[in-house]
Amino acid sequence: MKKKSILFVCLGNICRSPVAEGVFRKKAEQAKVLDFLEIDSAGTAAWHVGKSPDNRMIAAAKERGYDLTSLRARQAVVEDFEKFDHILAMDTDNLYSLQDIEPTTGKANLRLFLTYAPNIKLTDVPDPYYGKKDGFNHVIDLVEEASDGLLAKVQEELSEQNVG
Ligand code: 4NP
Repeated sequence: MKKKSILFVCLGNICRSPVAEGVFRKKAEQAKVLDFLEIDSAGTAAWHVGKSPDNRMIAAAKERGYDLTSLRARQAVVEDFEKFDHILAMDTDNLYSLQDIEPTTGKANLRLFLTYAPNIKLTDVPDPYYGKKDGFNHVIDLVEEASDGLLAKVQEELSEQNVG
């Protein structure tokens, strides 16, 4: 079966998109579809390339059962649009930055991550970097809900592929 590939993108790839990767990976594992997926994250900026996620996000994620320690930051590149089926931008600035490099030939479905959480009346996952601890927990709340929506969509795509 052809794998489905999913890329989460924020600004620095040290707070929001790594936790989205960790949460989505765990939910996919629980749903027994992890073997059929490629999951990754990246930043629109190169500032933190090669670094681990922010210690505050590692700690907040650990409290909720997600291990982010093996992740390392990288910058989003044009080739990601050929490689990934879904590219999820954490906020509108990230979306615009991605649209700036999006090639006309790209296959990726590029959209805001929170479009998969229709009950949440926010478009953007807020940047927690300059805020307090509760901001990191709020990010995880939003990411968990949007991950459920995205997982349902990806499971539907996998089952369509199975039938077709
Ligand atoms: P992220 O958060 O985009 O969720 O990884 C940020 C990380 C670093 C910076 C800003 C936001 N920064 O300004 O270095």
